[in-house]
Amino acid sequence: MITVQSVAKRYGDTVVVDDVSLTIPAGGITSIIGPNGAGKSTLLSLVSRLEPMSAGVVTVDGLDVSTTKSPVLAKRMAILRQENHLTVRLSVRDLVAFGRFPHSQGRLTKTDVEHVDKALDYMGLTDLQDRYIDQLSGGQRQRAYVAMVICQDTDYVLLDEPLNNLDMKHSVHMMQHLRRIANELGKTIVFVVHDINFASVYSDHMIAMRDGRVIVQGSPRDVMDPRKLAEIYDLYIPIQEVEGERVGIYYWSPALPTAVPLPDTYSTEVQVHQEPQPKAPAAPEAAAEPVKVIEPATSDASEN
Ligand SMILES: Nc1ncnc2c1ncn2[C@@H]1O[C@H](COP(=O)(O)OP(=O)(O)OP(=O)(O)O)[C@@H](O)[C@H]1O
Ligand SMILES: [Mg+2]
Repeated sequence: MITVQSVAKRYGDTVVVDDVSLTIPAGGITSIIGPNGAGKSTLLSLVSRLEPMSAGVVTVDGLDVSTTKSPVLAKRMAILRQENHLTVRLSVRDLVAFGRFPHSQGRLTKTDVEHVDKALDYMGLTDLQDRYIDQLSGGQRQRAYVAMVICQDTDYVLLDEPLNNLDMKHSVHMMQHLRRIANELGKTIVFVVHDINFASVYSDHMIAMRDGRVIVQGSPRDVMDPRKLAEIYDLYIPIQEVEGERVGIYYWSPALPTAVPLPDTYSTEVQVHQEPQPKAPAAPEAAAEPVKVIEPATSDASEN
């Protein structure tokens, strides 16, 4: 479990995370949504100690992140930053293998190599593993960074906009993969995303921020509400329910002069478009790329 207690971040006189308290349960997927500048990345940076807090306490499974030694924290929690810039020229494989550093200290064991191979495979990078990172497309590069983070095999995985630059197939594939590692390996995934529909469909818990504060949090059913989304985004976003999942139709949503309260002229009813259907297995020829799961490390002795 991650607990965030009265956490604040100030730059000079500007407060960018403002007295945030929340709990992220162990296991499952939590998504963080909110407009540009809401404080999402800053919050993840504070939780993972990339940035020091101005006030407050963050614990991860009871460990205070401000005082826990880096090697201990690095084995427990991994983070993908929103922006990643390499100063050295690395191949895809070397970048992903770098994710094993907290375990291997630079000398890869058989277990480390297995994790690297699997992470490359999950992210569809096996054929590109010998390319240099600067020779990849934006989406390929993003997948390489995510592979590096996943390959760390930590209990907590924080991902700041993992879907950046990804096409639809790779976005869905990545979300399905995260769902599988949460369900089957008990990992706790926290990700920031701008597409509220990916957040709604794939997460168990949503946190919506604005102006450095948490405006609403709860199940996707709680957050995917036109009144709450209006408060977060200043947009009227009608919600439809498709097979039991809530999706917001925001492509032509009118901007609201003031978000609260939502004008009476806008409906807050959820339009049920299609009732939940029993999920039929996908036809083999139509199935997406198989999603495979990283096995937990088997040899603790080689990693300590
Ligand atoms: N180093 C810094 N110095 C001053 N202000 C900063 C600094 N880093 C971030 N900020 C400000 O803090 C606020 C929150 O930034 P943050 O990056 O957390 O937003 P975000 O919710 O992740 O937005 P986005 O969706 O655009 O990624 C913004 O107003 C930003 O300008
Ligand atoms: Mg951000």
